[in-house]
Amino acid sequence: MEIKNFFLLTLTTLSPGASRAHPGMLEALAGCSRASEKRDTAELLADLKTLPDSALSPAGWTIKNILLANRAAVSPQDLSTVYKPPGPLGSSECRGDTCCVWKYIADAMAAAFQGKKQCNELARQAVRLGFHDAGTWSKSLGGGGADGSVVLSTSELARSDNRGLEIAAARMAGWYAEFHSYGVGMADLIQVGATVATVSCPLGPRSRVFVGRNDSITPAPSGRLPSVDADAESLVELFADKTIGVSELVALVGAHTASVQRFVDPLRVGSPQDSTPGTWDVLFYNQMISANPPADVFQFPSDLALSRYSAAHESWQTFANGQAVWNDAYAAAYVRLSVLGVKHINDLTECTGVLPLAH
Ligand code: HEM
Repeated sequence: MEIKNFFLLTLTTLSPGASRAHPGMLEALAGCSRASEKRDTAELLADLKTLPDSALSPAGWTIKNILLANRAAVSPQDLSTVYKPPGPLGSSECRGDTCCVWKYIADAMAAAFQGKKQCNELARQAVRLGFHDAGTWSKSLGGGGADGSVVLSTSELARSDNRGLEIAAARMAGWYAEFHSYGVGMADLIQVGATVATVSCPLGPRSRVFVGRNDSITPAPSGRLPSVDADAESLVELFADKTIGVSELVALVGAHTASVQRFVDPLRVGSPQDSTPGTWDVLFYNQMISANPPADVFQFPSDLALSRYSAAHESWQTFANGQAVWNDAYAAAYVRLSVLGVKHINDLTECTGVLPLAH
């Protein structure tokens, strides 16, 4: 028992690279503690469903354990790894390392997402854009997913679902034009952008981030994103078809902590969804269940429905009372969201070190 604990502790402190040698053994050990952990769907995706542990890449191993909620094996956040680029952008040293160009992109994104003591509108839209690209995937129907189509297709952005994402989509198109010649794709830009954006918000999680997705210009099927008027049962059903369980859904909608609405109620343009928009705190969860929420806070019917849903109650309370536990849950759920529809997850590369440090 003590040996196992020591080994698992050691694993959590190892860099992803250092854990490469023993993926099968690591998973077996991590599995020993699974039963005692609170888990959600823990459903594997794409190639990770069938690849043997011995065939897993470092990123494949990490994502697999995050999807399995094996927190003892790997944390969905990495709060400390810092990547140093081996050379200037465009140099042969930089071109030789997949994460190098992403360091330059992440730095540009972090500067663009910075508001006055909070993350700005571009950052908030970038978080939502990440959801709206990946969240179009359906397990039962296929199609959609994190493929960049929300920006690359000619029609997707114009859908009513995507109103309010114009600034982030235009900025992603600008970064794409600037960095595409270095091998950078839109699907990765959108997901890296969402991850840089969350950690750019005060108190935001530093979720692990991966690159190597394929792009698509084919518009995702419509009708795959949630309605702000949906009841809790239909939200849960919609997200279950994306392999996202209730607790993961509750963690993800917490993104509305940073949010400001413009299109739900045109008479209240600029109303936030909690009293501290642009800050990744747990006030959203608390004000949603408060008997007297502040009058200037605009609560979405979908969030209200979920906050009162019995199966969501425990997670809602847990996140309302715990910034660290929510950040961890959000990061895990976001890693899942960020690889929906990706067929070759094992070919991705982890570049978490390029992210700004949390503040
Ligand atoms: C239950 C499902 C969800 C519904 C019905 C929903 C709906 C909405 C709506 C209607 C807005 C306001 C858009 C506007 O008026 O400009 C919004 C904003 C936002 N949503 Fe969601 N959302 C959901 C889940 C999510 C998830 C899973 C994420 C992220 C992982 C997310 C991130 C955001 C962010 C960051 C904003 C703020 C955008 C801004 O301030 O410009 N939402 N959402």
